[in-house]
Amino acid sequence: AVLILDFGGQYSQLIARRIRDLNVYCEIKSYQTSADEIASSGYHGIIFSGGPDTVYDDQAPKCDKKIFDLEIPILGICYGAQLMAFSLGGEVDSAAIREYGKTEFQITAESPLFQGIDRRSVCWMSHTVYIKTPPAGFQITAVSSTCPVVSMQNTEKKLYATQFHPEVEHTLHGQEILHNFLYEICRCTGDWKMDSFIQTSVEQMKKTIGEKRVICALSGGVDSSVAAALVHRAVGKQLTCIFVDHGLLRKGEAEEVERVFRSQFDMNLVRVDAQARFLARLSGVTEPEQKRKIIGEEFIRVFEEEAKKIGQVDFLCQGTIYPDVVESGTGNSAVIKSHHNVGGLPKDIGFTGLVEPLRYLFKDEVRRVGAELGLPDTLVWRQPFPGPGLAIRIMGEVTADKLSILKDADAVFRDEIAKAGLDRKINQYFAVLTGIKSVGVMGDGRTYDNTIALRGVTTSDFMTADWARIPYDVLEQASSRIINEVKNVNRIVYDITSKPPATIEWE
Ligand code: XMP
Repeated sequence: AVLILDFGGQYSQLIARRIRDLNVYCEIKSYQTSADEIASSGYHGIIFSGGPDTVYDDQAPKCDKKIFDLEIPILGICYGAQLMAFSLGGEVDSAAIREYGKTEFQITAESPLFQGIDRRSVCWMSHTVYIKTPPAGFQITAVSSTCPVVSMQNTEKKLYATQFHPEVEHTLHGQEILHNFLYEICRCTGDWKMDSFIQTSVEQMKKTIGEKRVICALSGGVDSSVAAALVHRAVGKQLTCIFVDHGLLRKGEAEEVERVFRSQFDMNLVRVDAQARFLARLSGVTEPEQKRKIIGEEFIRVFEEEAKKIGQVDFLCQGTIYPDVVESGTGNSAVIKSHHNVGGLPKDIGFTGLVEPLRYLFKDEVRRVGAELGLPDTLVWRQPFPGPGLAIRIMGEVTADKLSILKDADAVFRDEIAKAGLDRKINQYFAVLTGIKSVGVMGDGRTYDNTIALRGVTTSDFMTADWARIPYDVLEQASSRIINEVKNVNRIVYDITSKPPATIEWE
């Protein structure tokens, strides 16, 4: 395995994903991790991430200096490169202007890091501070017209550094550079593959769970579905999935979840038809946060009731994935997502342990595991869907009639997006029942009916997003089909706001 020491860089998770793509397992830990802990974990290599600070500031994050003496190969990236230079006695300085974006650089010396790469290449830079003079024992291996040390190395001590970001796709040979670090320098074996992950994880779960029983709250989302399928592979009928159908899922989704898990996987599945309960609790409620709170609480209540009926269970299976762990774990990423899945599940319903088989996986790896386990594409490639479901896409009070209109309109929109081959290109797309009524004319008569808004966004992290440039003819087709096929809708608008200033959801 390889360790990524996180100095708060925005690309730390991206570095990890690139390394996993190269079939090497890696972990992200805080820059405060001690040399002793690192030494005892048996890492093949260490990568220092970038970060927003300036190394010679007093408060700037510094690593345990003993790490440089562990004889484990290190690659410093951007801030990590500067930190390596600064800590070992090199000179780091602030440039007059920030160097940002695609930059040509030239390789000036032999380096295992650059094996097989053209002497002149293009990389992605983002910095103001730069290495002026490398520490004693280091050799400069690449330069650019503005930067005297684009890359440096001390091969004897296995220390390497690049001012640029090899993990970013604009660095032309970034993946080869990382490959060289992992395979030429760290001598990794490359055994991180999804099929072997499934095998090891199943063996471990068999050991941990033994003859005991597990329950899982299935939402139909990618993470809980894959987690359930994986636990099922390990312990079969010892797993019971509880699927709380709150009636706020998209059209046909509850049936799809039931079909897949009951028929295809032959799982113990309890589908709780709780639509009436949720609607009753939501009756008269218009305030968005209030709706969220009610849905979260009710979800837990229903889940608890069902769990009690099952009797003694020992483990709760959760679909926690690695970004969740990293965000709460290393404590120094710049932005922390405050999203609120449907309730945290209560810890007092009798189980003694958690089973979180996806704890070390990124989303794309979760999808690969799902596909490998035989889950259908509709589940594996499902777009993100908020815990409170369609309730936050209906402005104002939620009623059965409004839900029915929204489900139908949304289904048409999804169908048109899929037909246009855009379903994996647009990261999230849906219909909103705006609560606005407007005047229209149909046939010879006046109408006064609902306005549906369509929303589509492209984003990589859902923290910021751009509105999707959906072709006009796709929008036109969706618009006319919704008007024709869905009763009580006479106007369609398309949402052209990015996030910020808007959010992706309307409530
Ligand atoms: P916003 O609307 O905040 O949404 O831009 C960002 C992403 O989060 C999803 N979302 C939620 N997911 N529970 C969830 O599990 C929620 O309460 C919730 N609210 C928003 C939203 O669909 C988008 O993908």
